[in-house]
Amino acid sequence: MAIDTKYVGANGTGPAAGEDTDWTDIVQTVHLRLLQEMDLAAVEKLAPSRAHEAVASAARQLVTQTHPSLLGDDRELVIRRVIEEAVGFGPLEPLLQDPTISEVMVNAPDEVYFERDGIIYLAPCRFRDTGHIMRIVERIIAPLGRRVDESSPYVDARLPDGSRVNVVIPPLVPKSPVLTIRKFSPDRFHVEDLVKIGTMTQPVADFLHACVQQRLDIVVSGGTGTGKTTLLNAISEYIPSRERIVSIEDPIEMKLRQAHVISMEARHANIEGKNEVTPRDLVRNALRMRPDRIIVGEVRGAEAFDMLQAMNTGHEGSLTTVHANSPRDALSRIENMVLMAGFDLPVRAIREQMASALHLVVQLVRHSDGKRRVSNITEITGMESGIITTQELYRFEQAGVAEGGAIQGELVATGITPTFAERFRKAGINMEMGLPGTRLR
Ligand SMILES: Nc1ncnc2c1ncn2[C@@H]1O[C@H](COP(=O)(O)OP(=O)(O)OP(=O)(O)O)[C@@H](O)[C@H]1O
Ligand SMILES: [Mg+2]
Repeated sequence: MAIDTKYVGANGTGPAAGEDTDWTDIVQTVHLRLLQEMDLAAVEKLAPSRAHEAVASAARQLVTQTHPSLLGDDRELVIRRVIEEAVGFGPLEPLLQDPTISEVMVNAPDEVYFERDGIIYLAPCRFRDTGHIMRIVERIIAPLGRRVDESSPYVDARLPDGSRVNVVIPPLVPKSPVLTIRKFSPDRFHVEDLVKIGTMTQPVADFLHACVQQRLDIVVSGGTGTGKTTLLNAISEYIPSRERIVSIEDPIEMKLRQAHVISMEARHANIEGKNEVTPRDLVRNALRMRPDRIIVGEVRGAEAFDMLQAMNTGHEGSLTTVHANSPRDALSRIENMVLMAGFDLPVRAIREQMASALHLVVQLVRHSDGKRRVSNITEITGMESGIITTQELYRFEQAGVAEGGAIQGELVATGITPTFAERFRKAGINMEMGLPGTRLR
């Protein structure tokens, strides 16, 4: 893809075009003077717009005093950077404000990366040192009531705008604090957008529509950042609006469009290690809230057991995601989660629960061209000789790789008739010739 010169030099690294001077040192000098002359702690307590104004006027005076030869756009840029440093997110601010950037990653002071359209770039900005990163990290997480220090060296949090922040500090990482910000809002993509950008086809979207409407229990599976939450959020559109949805996440990311939604968020232990509310606690509580559907943002642990039970006891149509690399892998991971939860259940019993609870695994992949695609849709059909049986309904068939690296291929129906075809037909859903994906009537 074309490299945007706004942030990336022609070789993909270095300062952006039009910004080929590194202003870091000048910004630091002015910022240090600002710290001497202003009580920034008091300023930070002001309303954001007042804090911004106060810092802006002080920064203007200081730039004039310390760097009188700095004029025009350069002067404005330095002033903006000083403001970002004093009351914003410092060097990260331009990346965070750019709506085309979906992820910002700080590995070290001079290693800041961002992701745009599925591709990772080195950003031209840098931090002075690791202390500088920590100052910005604290500015990000302190208002959320979270902290990160030697006793709790990593934190996962959600910003008020829905962005997700993860911080890991030494000694868990050897050299530098590592900060990852997922800026996206999962409702950026509706199903029609996912069809348009080639994540899936219209027939597959129609098929999923029918499956959600007909209350199949669906697991969206994929590796890190393959778009599981986004797809889950998108297909939840198909839940009829008369239904009561209870969603459980850690942290909350989804933005369900229905009116009748209760979103619950797990709570981490506080500084004394108390008051934790786990996703499992929330799934169990959800069952007492008269849900028509339960959505578990991602199953990771013991809540898998309660989720399966819920699916088996009248809460069909539940949706979740799991971190796995294939539909089979998804099943073995869920099985492991239940095993590890310590209920002392024989594997066979767990598999029976799974075989009767789960109907469909939608597998996502991120291909080498940066595109996220549905790679398989697999139906769970039952149990045979102690093994969960499945059949593949759709498969992405790769034809080749175009010049420039784009993957060519097609998401096609395998032609296998889903076991629920008859039930769908009776409900008025046309699945001619057993091929899933025929348009909904
Ligand atoms: N189909 C898609 N096409 C292009 N970009 C997408 C697609 N789906 C998601 N994204 C983008 O990819 C990033 C990751 O999306 P998302 O959080 O949905 O993935 P995930 O698999 O749930 O990640 P995690 O493993 O962290 O839970 C986001 O920036 C999102 O906007
Ligand atoms: Mg996710």
